[in-house]
Amino acid sequence: MNIPHRLYLTEDQMPKQWYNLRADMKEQPDPMMNPGTMQPAVEEDLYPVFCKALAHQEMDAETRYIDIPDEILDMYKIYRPSPLVRAYNLEKELGTPAKIYYKFEGNNTSGSHKLNSAIAQAYYAKEQGLTSLTTETGAGQWGTALAEACAYFHIPLTVFMVKASYQQKPFRKAVMSVFDAQVIASPSDTTQAGRKILANDPDCTGSLGCAISEAVEKAVTTEGCRYVLGSVLNQVLLHQSIIGLESKTAMEQLGEYPDIVIGCAGGGSNLGGLMAPFMQDKLLGRADPRFIAVEPASCPSLTRGRYAYDFCDTGKTTPLAKMYTLGSGFIPSPNHAGGLRYHGMSPILSKLYHDGYMEAVAYEQTKVFEAATMFAKCETILPAPESSHAILGAVEEALKCKESGEAKTILFGLTGTGYFDMTAYDAFRNGTMPDYIPTDEDLRRGFDALPQVPGRD
Ligand SMILES: Cc1ncc(COP(=O)(O)O)c(C=O)c1O
Repeated sequence: MNIPHRLYLTEDQMPKQWYNLRADMKEQPDPMMNPGTMQPAVEEDLYPVFCKALAHQEMDAETRYIDIPDEILDMYKIYRPSPLVRAYNLEKELGTPAKIYYKFEGNNTSGSHKLNSAIAQAYYAKEQGLTSLTTETGAGQWGTALAEACAYFHIPLTVFMVKASYQQKPFRKAVMSVFDAQVIASPSDTTQAGRKILANDPDCTGSLGCAISEAVEKAVTTEGCRYVLGSVLNQVLLHQSIIGLESKTAMEQLGEYPDIVIGCAGGGSNLGGLMAPFMQDKLLGRADPRFIAVEPASCPSLTRGRYAYDFCDTGKTTPLAKMYTLGSGFIPSPNHAGGLRYHGMSPILSKLYHDGYMEAVAYEQTKVFEAATMFAKCETILPAPESSHAILGAVEEALKCKESGEAKTILFGLTGTGYFDMTAYDAFRNGTMPDYIPTDEDLRRGFDALPQVPGRD
């Protein structure tokens, strides 16, 4: 079969339902715990923080397919279906017999896959009659995506942006402002959580964990306001399943099926979404692909973290989730892949990894930028630093194929573009990009502060 460079599904081939991977998991992730009672959280516990429909999706482990409301489909159609690309030039550059495909999610103003969940979350907030939303953003892609979605549904938005990214990427803030979002560098003095963090460390460059604490505080102290999160949560993985569903349809059209599915993993949403229908096949015994999560060596939650109950934020205000974690107090070094600087990991991915359904690797950022630069030259897309972790993962697997002579089919998620990451690309090119790897002692401090959950650890 003649495989085109890019395959775009037609609008009517776009999925009309999201796929809820939990419905097919043999064992469920451990339940979220209410830190006040140390009992499993119930849907109503989440209402003060999340809007109701999303709290319901968060807790729903049974409904296999969930209809995507028409209003959401209408906005999806502005930039979806996204293309499935055969990386012919990259294959040639590597001299590999492997067939490399990537699903490109950077083709919208937010520059990433984050818009898939932002639209859903803004829609449900509007439907409930909420009057404002808050969120955190690391790299800025999630904040931008949510700003776009909130502008579309006319909901005011406050974004707490990790200070390291706020300083590295001033134009990210400018884009969010175009969509009328208020952007605050986190930690900030606008919340108690922020003030506490600054009192301990006035030069704190922030982390997703800090920014989440600030955004949650703002939500629960503001009438008609709720908090939305761009990763980690079950509901976000659900929304991102559209990436995998489209990929599977497109690959079927080409007569292809991946031997290996690779994604970068910050909180786990793009990988969770990309792999969902393929993982379904594995869980149901219909196929046996490998899944590889790629994380930065500076924030190695899967590869060096503990599988334990932990808070999702630094201020310890959220419910406890059982996940691979470096400890909610862990502040990763200011790595350029801001979207991967999160101490924890999606409980769904954590469980699958723990049960041996998924592998994980961690790479240093200079190696990641080497791969990013090679990819840009071959494929004419300037990849986001986060996405470039998946590129390196795919390159490594393709090189193994070169050695073994196997023509494996590799699918990876190219989650976004890196046009706002030029400081990072410059640092890489002029040789000033450092590689930080936390010591065991650094990690031990995080593990020592993990909360105790009686009868659960
Ligand atoms: C471009 C891009 N890719 C990947 C990620 C990682 O998030 P997740 O693991 O939820 O997909 C981010 C997060 O901000 C991002 O901006």
